[in-house]
Parts: sequence; structure tokens; C-alpha cells
Amino acid sequence: MLGLGTLIGVEGEGGRMTPELVVRQCTDGDLAALEETEPPRSGIARHLLHQQAAGNIVYAAAWRDHLLLGTVVLDLRSDYTPELKHLFVQEAARGAGAGTALCVWTERHATRAGFDKLYLGVGVENHGARRLYQRLGFTFAGPTTTTTYQYVDNDGHKQWATETDDMFEKALAE
Ligand SMILES: CC(C)(COP(=O)(O)OP(=O)(O)OC[C@H]1O[C@@H](n2cnc3c(N)ncnc32)[C@H](O)[C@@H]1OP(=O)(O)O)[C@@H](O)C(=O)NCCC(=O)NCCS
Repeated sequence: MLGLGTLIGVEGEGGRMTPELVVRQCTDGDLAALEETEPPRSGIARHLLHQQAAGNIVYAAAWRDHLLLGTVVLDLRSDYTPELKHLFVQEAARGAGAGTALCVWTERHATRAGFDKLYLGVGVENHGARRLYQRLGFTFAGPTTTTTYQYVDNDGHKQWATETDDMFEKALAE
């Protein structure tokens, strides 16, 4: 069934299990927690929940002990549908599997929705994210595009950025 949480136990030192990492689809009830981790006045979570309600995207988050670790978007209306977008893990939570779990959840969701391929764009200089995607089986598919876009920085100010991205793809198992 779509939209249910995925429970992933991560084995800690000595074989004990650390608290479960839970990935599940975001709901309006998550808005306050989501807003706490975004730049002030950016309105990102509110916008994404609205897009999800309109059926354009699926918006998911990873949690451990009710602590928000990171988020991801599955875009159902992009030029490369379905496209994994906006993968982000809080800095303090990186390197502990949340990024991988969010990607795996997104792959499963796309598979269950009937898609046989998943696409994503990744910056040519984003070596960490490229390693993560390649480890998960994504490969370069092209094209490479350069985009200039506006974003809200951590102080709530609008900034412009230019980024060159490669399109990656992965065939989804049945
Ligand atoms: C890329 C990102 C989502 C990875 O999340 P994560 O929770 O650290 O990922 P995992 O713990 O599941 O896997 C870690 C892998 O991510 C990569 N990585 C990228 N940045 C990392 C960081 N700061 N710390 C640890 N690993 C990082 C490594 O390749 C690592 O792979 P390895 O275990 O083979 O060395 C996270 O670093 C992030 O949010 N970065 C900023 C936003 C971003 O670049 N998003 C991708 C846009 S395309």
C-alpha cells in the first residue's frame, strides 16, 4: 500500500539496534516540524504539502525518535517523470543512512505506483551525493544542463545560484 512508513533497523555497536529510522509520507500534521528545519520565510514545506495535495508530488521524510532527519520529493509531473528531487539530510544526521533510506523509500513508492524507471538530477560537483546515487545503482543518462535559480538562504534572504546538473536514471525492479 502506498504512503505507509518503512521501518529500518540500523545495527549499532555490539549488535544492539539503535532506534528505528522511519521513512513515511508527510502530512499536514508535520508542517510545524518541517518548518523548523527550513530557512525562515521560505515557505518550502507549506508549498510542497500543497503540491502533494494537488497530486503533483509525493513528499516524504525520515525520522528517528520523532526527530526529523531529512526529506525527499518524488515529482510526478517533471520533464523526467518520476524524478527524485530535493533530497536533503540535516547536517548533524548525515552519514548514518537517512539519505539512503529516503532514496530506497522513493524507489519503492515509484515502483508500487507502476513506474519502471526513476530519474534524478545531481550537481556535477556534488561528489558526495553522486557517490550515494551510484552506490544505489543510478547511472548517468544525460543530458547535462546548467540552470540559474533563486533560493532562500539560512538567514531568510533570497539569493541566486547557478548549477550544472547531470541527469541520472535507474531501472526499477518489478
Ligand atoms: C547527500 C546527502 C543527502 C546524503 O545523506 P546521508 O544521510 O549522509 O546519506 P547516507 O548516510 O545514507 O549515505 C552517506 C553517503 O552519502 C555521501 N555523503 C554526502 N555527503 C555526506 C556527508 N556530509 N557525510 C556523510 N556522507 C555523505 C557519501 O557518499 C556516503 O556514501 P558512503 O557511505 O558510500 O561513503 C546529504 O549529504 C545531504 O543532504 N547533502 C546536502 C544536500 C544534497 O546535496 N542533496 C543531494 C541533491 S542531488
